[in-house]
Amino acid sequence: MSKLNTICVIGLGYIGLPTAVVLASRGVSVVGVDINKDVVTKINRGEIHIVEPDLDAVTARAVQNGLLRATTTVEAADAFVIAVPTPFHDGKADLAYVDAATASIAPVLKKGDLVVLESTSPPGTTESMTKRLAALRPDLRFPNVANGACDIHVAYCPERVLPGRVLIELVENDRVIGGITPACSERAEELYRIFCTGSLLKTGVRTAEMCKLTENSFRDVGIAFANELSVICEKLGINVWELIRLANHHPRVNILQPGPGVGGHCIAVDPWFIVAAAPEESRLIRTAREVNDGKPAHVLEKIKAAVDGARAAGAKPKVALLGLAFKPDVDDFRESPALQIAEAIAEWNNCEVLVSEPHAVRLPGKLADLNHVRLGSSTRDLVAEAHIVVMLVNHRSYNEIQRADLSGKAIIDTRGVWS
Ligand SMILES: NC(=O)c1ccc[n+]([C@@H]2O[C@H](COP(=O)([O-])OP(=O)(O)OC[C@H]3O[C@@H](n4cnc5c(N)ncnc54)[C@H](O)[C@@H]3O)[C@@H](O)[C@H]2O)c1
Repeated sequence: MSKLNTICVIGLGYIGLPTAVVLASRGVSVVGVDINKDVVTKINRGEIHIVEPDLDAVTARAVQNGLLRATTTVEAADAFVIAVPTPFHDGKADLAYVDAATASIAPVLKKGDLVVLESTSPPGTTESMTKRLAALRPDLRFPNVANGACDIHVAYCPERVLPGRVLIELVENDRVIGGITPACSERAEELYRIFCTGSLLKTGVRTAEMCKLTENSFRDVGIAFANELSVICEKLGINVWELIRLANHHPRVNILQPGPGVGGHCIAVDPWFIVAAAPEESRLIRTAREVNDGKPAHVLEKIKAAVDGARAAGAKPKVALLGLAFKPDVDDFRESPALQIAEAIAEWNNCEVLVSEPHAVRLPGKLADLNHVRLGSSTRDLVAEAHIVVMLVNHRSYNEIQRADLSGKAIIDTRGVWS
């Protein structure tokens, strides 16, 4: 089998760009493709459009060395890695981006090429993608579509990196590789061997697709348990943070931390892919999603009670919201329960909303351009000004806010920072 000299990465976002850059850093010639012209222009200048530690320097080096080049059109390569979005709409995965990426590589495919789908996908997606490619390129033989030997290898390989540690985890994490056939898994293994030091675990394509969904559902169910506990404890007058700390002293108990809900592009979305694939059977997974999705409404009730209390006492309340990102120390607002809470409070129009978000230069989403919502630069000043302080995201920089700074204020601490 020939060497993988040129690799085309399709979709240069949180997953595709670091993958392209790490491959280039290993001396492989990488063509990065994105439909967003601004993204392409920026990368070709050696700059990045996302926040990820050290990614800027590695990208600049890869571009300078001539090993990474971005473009809006797919070019011929030895391997294609697809990392485009797979959002969830109307009760099912929206595979339009995967379909478009598939259609874009079909014309340039040649005998011996490898195609790997990395986008989080429902079981069966990679097989459908292969059939689609086979229909678009009847001159090539595809695995499990043609009988016998194949011209193209196709595999699914999910990504499990932690934002903030992507460049480390991309290299060190173990990877699950599910080829359409065992020969496809082996060919895909060659690709990941270029930069992965973790174990490369080969399996069937559907198992690999399901593995990613399972990992995130496992996390979601665990967080739902903690979130449900937090609501129960509130009712029973028990400090949930202390309770969890104590329970976790049991050698075989490890309860996760409650919060204002679950956000992000993965944990809040992927379990629905399983529910959609097996609705009758996914009872626990569905309930966990519902528990976590219900948590922002619970937090809002508490904020509403504090606002009503302050108004009854004659004040036009100022509510300081600490954090909007979906989790600490990232600039990612996708599916963020904190943002959802902030937008709901802004709609009440009965209080001034002071927002602290060290990772935003302007207010995201529906919060932009509202007179009664303000993004402050100093968290300490916002807290000093506010009647009500809501801890939504425990960004590291908030460590500067001590309990003493909150004296005389109503506190709603969804993260247990001051509890
Ligand atoms: N972000 C994460 O932490 C993470 C972790 C694991 C898995 N994933 C999965 O990886 C996939 C990609 O996620 P992401 O966070 O990198 O998304 P993203 O939105 O950051 O980036 C996707 C990029 O793909 C581009 N794109 C869309 N359609 C295209 C097309 N047809 N051709 C070329 N480019 C196209 C978009 O312009 C965008 O720049 C998703 O399925 C996601 O669920 C993400």
